[in-house]
Amino acid sequence: MRAPAVTGTLPRPADDPRRPAHLSLLFFAVAALFLLSGAAAPAAFAAPGPGLRLAAERRAATDLAVTGLMPDAPRGSTRYLAWADLAALPRTRLKIAGEFGPGEREVAVVFLADFWAALPRDKSSDTLLATCADGYASVFRADFIRDYRPFLVVEIDGRGPGEWPPPGLKMNPGPYVIGVSAAVVPAVADLVDAGHKRPWRITGLEIARFSERFAGFYRGPWARPSAAVVAGRELWLGACASCHTGPADTFGGTKGDRPFELMAAHAAHNAPYLTLYVRNPTDFVPTAKMQPHPHYSDRQLDELVAFLALAAPK
Ligand code: HEC
Repeated sequence: MRAPAVTGTLPRPADDPRRPAHLSLLFFAVAALFLLSGAAAPAAFAAPGPGLRLAAERRAATDLAVTGLMPDAPRGSTRYLAWADLAALPRTRLKIAGEFGPGEREVAVVFLADFWAALPRDKSSDTLLATCADGYASVFRADFIRDYRPFLVVEIDGRGPGEWPPPGLKMNPGPYVIGVSAAVVPAVADLVDAGHKRPWRITGLEIARFSERFAGFYRGPWARPSAAVVAGRELWLGACASCHTGPADTFGGTKGDRPFELMAAHAAHNAPYLTLYVRNPTDFVPTAKMQPHPHYSDRQLDELVAFLALAAPK
């Protein structure tokens, strides 16, 4: 049964050409008030779900590719999840305005916590890595999934991704979109980089172990970090890793095509450039594709520099 959705509307800011196409910044702005369908208590990791069935072959363009730590799939293999199976998990309806084209839309979402519970995955897994068609990536650790209640959008106005983009929206946000909203969990408003938890155009999810995929940032120069370096590392993981890959095989998106060593060298030898670039890339490169981070304090930028500079050759 579906609960009636409650409407909340906030004006959408004018189209910002710098707004990265893959980011759905407006989940943050819209007051997506909602009623939970079914029990109001967060299901989080309570009961294991019915168990999602993954296929060895792709059958539809809207299948979600799943890789990583799966009990019945050899490492390196890909399994496919049909949209219909995903959409059959418990759903909640949200009403949002100005996000998927003009006007108000009703979206059906599946909380990532329910998806995570139903996913056939190794017990040691603790992180979901979302990768997008344009090389953007987003990191969802299990505690984040539990505490901030991110959700997968499975329908917009009653239509699944096979019928997207919705009328009025030029860019197809599909096949999959993940969002977080302060209307679902108020603490989302306090996240430093909530925008990085709202990827569009997700084509694949990797079931991962954090300590394995990000090992590169916890050894070598980062084995005994100062408090500032720890804080800088958190900033990197929460934002920069969406587009930039770390050293060796440390996970990150591929949209930012600059080598990690180059950014480390900037941090060590030209920190003012690095910090100004991070705040507003278009000050340097009018056509920059990197998104601005004007909300970082001087202290946060210093921490980012402290973290990155450790990787620069001495
Ligand atoms: C939305 C994707 C994206 C995110 C997020 C992102 N970057 Fe970038 N970054 C890029 C791209 C793409 C470039 C290449 C130049 C351009 O288009 O801006 C770049 C370039 C850079 C450069 C310039 C290197 C040079 O050649 O001079 C630095 C430094 C940098 N990024 C650091 C960071 C840091 C630190 C963060 C996290 C706070 C970050 N980036 C987050 C995409 C991103």
